[in-house]
Amino acid sequence: MKRDSFSSRMGVLAAAAGSAIGLGNIWRFTYLMGDNGGAAFFLIYLASVILIGLPIMIAEFTIGRNTQKNPIGAFKSLVPKSAWPLTGWLGIIAAFSVLSFYGVVGGWTLYYLVRSVSQSFLQFSPDQYATIFTNYIENPLIPILTQLIFMGLTFAIVVRGIQSGIEKYSKLLMPLLFLIVILIDVVALTMPGAGEGLAFIFKPDWSKVDMKVIVMAVGQAFFSLSLGMGTMLTYASYIGKQQDLKKTALQVTVADTLVAVLAGVAIFPAVFSFNIDPTSGPGLVFITLPAVFGKMPFGQIVGPAFFLLLAIAALTSAISILEVLVAYFGEELKWGRKKATIISTVLLTLIGMIASLSNGIWNNDAFFGMNFMDFLGAFSSNYCLPIGGFFIAIFVGWRMKPEWSNQELLIGAKNARGNKLVLWLLRTLVPAAIIVVFLSGIGVIG
Ligand code: PHE
Repeated sequence: MKRDSFSSRMGVLAAAAGSAIGLGNIWRFTYLMGDNGGAAFFLIYLASVILIGLPIMIAEFTIGRNTQKNPIGAFKSLVPKSAWPLTGWLGIIAAFSVLSFYGVVGGWTLYYLVRSVSQSFLQFSPDQYATIFTNYIENPLIPILTQLIFMGLTFAIVVRGIQSGIEKYSKLLMPLLFLIVILIDVVALTMPGAGEGLAFIFKPDWSKVDMKVIVMAVGQAFFSLSLGMGTMLTYASYIGKQQDLKKTALQVTVADTLVAVLAGVAIFPAVFSFNIDPTSGPGLVFITLPAVFGKMPFGQIVGPAFFLLLAIAALTSAISILEVLVAYFGEELKWGRKKATIISTVLLTLIGMIASLSNGIWNNDAFFGMNFMDFLGAFSSNYCLPIGGFFIAIFVGWRMKPEWSNQELLIGAKNARGNKLVLWLLRTLVPAAIIVVFLSGIGVIG
């Protein structure tokens, strides 16, 4: 049987950018930036994206397209009978832990999308929005219901395969996402006091920067660019030989960063315009923003548009994570796509339900001082993704011969420009930076 693949350059770009651009850009990036000093955080994030993220994305693309396999199968075929497939296994574990909690937050976006459409939703006080959010996520039933709908949509796209599922829907949804975020930006920028919000995003205050901020910025680069889990590796396994991998990686990185900035511009000018504290953590988009929409020009339209934006961003990322599992089950265990998609979705949804309940009736700090949902987020982005990224960098940088990666990168490319630099970064700066950040993240140094 012929292996499914992307049919066009646009399709690859839309799908890979769709994976990268997600809740990470809008929900996570903006609250991390709010909590960690605005522009200074952004600049460190930017440096991590260029120096660490981009080379790892190119490495994942190289392994994926070269082997045309899932993350475990890829390492098995390149270095049989070695421990390297463990890197792929780590990716599978990360995929389970990210998508199970991501599905819950994806459900939140659908809930807010529906609620924000009603006229009365924009009339509450800031305290009431906080109560609405807490009551909702602590409820044992409704968040699970919304999670089920979100996971159902994710399933419905992935089960159709690459060309008629993932590619088709990414091509449809990504332009819409750009359009919505730009429209919201236009409204946000016309608000009085918008300048202060822009200064928060673009004028660095270095006094806020310490090792913790750096650790967060690097972790966010991994999360936002969908790295270290084998997502980009899996998508690249469906990329044709006529495409330039470095160019595609660069375009995906630029698009992802652009949307993070555009999301910041959509949110902070409005937040400052109403003198609201930007450091409100994960509740920023679900508690602070609804209050802002109530006072904003065209709030009745901007509100639902914003939650639609979040839902689309979440969906095109969720499908990329589910595909990692489906590719693994399909190729390694030889299950058909339908069976692989059903079983993965059911497992993810069950773990996600436990995560959802850990916000309410099962709330306890049994997981290293966190509830289960927060633990899944921290465990995957602070540990699985950077460790996965580390081994991917070491693999392409040191384990494989430079001729191997150079040759794969040359296919479809005009020249070898930049290959040496990428390889050098993968050999030196990338692993060194991950080690330092990792050790400081677990409190060994810094
Ligand atoms: N990049 C996605 C986001 O920013 C999340 C994600 C992480 C997707 C890891 C795939 C792999 O929301």
